[in-house]
Order: sequence, then structure tokens, then C-alpha cells
Amino acid sequence: MSWREDAKRRAASEAARYVEDGFVVGLGSGSTAAYAIREIGRRVKEEGLRVLGVPTSYSTFLLAVKSGIPLTTLNEHPTLDLDIDGADQIDRRLNLIKGMGGALTREKIIAASSKKFIVVADETKLTSSLGEGQPIPVEILPFALPLVIERIRRIGGRPNLRERKDGSGPYITDNGNFILDVDFGAVNEPAKLEMRLKGIPGVIETGLFLGMAQEAIIGTKDGIKVIRRT
Ligand code: A5P
Repeated sequence: MSWREDAKRRAASEAARYVEDGFVVGLGSGSTAAYAIREIGRRVKEEGLRVLGVPTSYSTFLLAVKSGIPLTTLNEHPTLDLDIDGADQIDRRLNLIKGMGGALTREKIIAASSKKFIVVADETKLTSSLGEGQPIPVEILPFALPLVIERIRRIGGRPNLRERKDGSGPYITDNGNFILDVDFGAVNEPAKLEMRLKGIPGVIETGLFLGMAQEAIIGTKDGIKVIRRT
């Protein structure tokens, strides 16, 4: 296992220890969150931990079922005790960019529904400047594509329509929408950018997660470190 995989696994396993008996837990998407899901599943099987999970994507839904985690929905449990999810970039204030796995909209809804949101990642995700070397994924209504592209260019972004890996057409989210990966370079005022993006008709959600994570568990080359939002 590469050091990064090991770092992701260590961070995710530590986060899985935060899950208490009776908790309703948001189950994130991506390779780091997957380690946490498998570990929660192990605790369910081996420790008799009683939890209910709310998945943030179809792929997480399938992994949670395979891992033996009983599931529920936001309709049955509108408030979650804890959400554990990965990130593509994390700054000092625990503002995040998420969505390279395409699940940003459901991820943001689950994070916003949770009393506590813990982000898990390896240390390569830490940055001093959000957006530097990292596009911001934006989920959009396919019908609005030309308008959104034009408006994003107007506010200084370089949008790129995400393609399926096999090149057979645009990537489609679990919600039936497109994703624009937008290069803004380093973002000085993320809250202002979030407001401007959300003001464009046809924008469903952005991958900017501002002021949402309370804690980050970061896997390093030789251990883990915990960063708390101050
Ligand atoms: C999914 O849409 C993303 O937000 C993921 O949480 C993010 O891409 C991190 O994924 P990895 O843990 O695989 O790097």
C-alpha cells in the first residue's frame, strides 16, 4: 500500500472511532470516505455497534450495503449526529473544495444536515490557498449549460465540462446533471465567489464547502494530525 493510501486509511479509521452507539451517520463519497465506511461496517459486525447511515452517492449506498451498515434517509432522520467525508482541498480555516468524485450536491446537503462534520484526507489535500491547482466543481442543470458557461467566464472562471472516463459524453451526476470543473486560480474571497456562482440561473451547487467542517483528520506520512476549526 502506498503511503497516501495508508494515510487515508489511518485518517478514516480514526474518524470511524467518533461514531457512537445509536448515531445516525452521514457516509461520504470517494476513496478516503470508503475506508471509514468499511471500518464502520467492521464495528457493526464485530462490536455490535448500532448505527444508521445516510449515503451521499449511489456508489456509497452500494458500499454501505456491502459493508453491512443499515441505512436510512433524510426524511426519516433530518438531523444527523455526524458526517464523515473526504475533500479535494482543505485550507487553514477548514474551508474545502469537494466534488471531484461528482457527489458534491448530496455531500453538501448531508454535511449541512449534520451536527458535526469531520473531513478525512491525506496531507496532500492541505493548501494555503483554496483553488490553487484545483478546479472548483460546479453541478449545473444541463439545459442551462451555455448560459452558465458564459456567466462563469464573465466572473473570471475557466469552465471545463466534465467528461465520462471512457470519453463517451458528459459525466452525469446521481441527480442527472452536468459538472463544470472551473479553474479560478487561487481564490481570495471564497464566500464572495460562492455567492456569485449560486446567483447564476442553472447552478445547482458548488464544491465550495465554507465554514462547514468542524474538524479535519489528516493522514500524514507517519501518523495523523487533527485540525479543529477555531
Ligand atoms: C466526492 O464528490 C468528493 O467530494 C470526494 O469527497 C473527494 O473527491 C475526495 O475523494 P478522495 O478521498 O478519493 O480523494
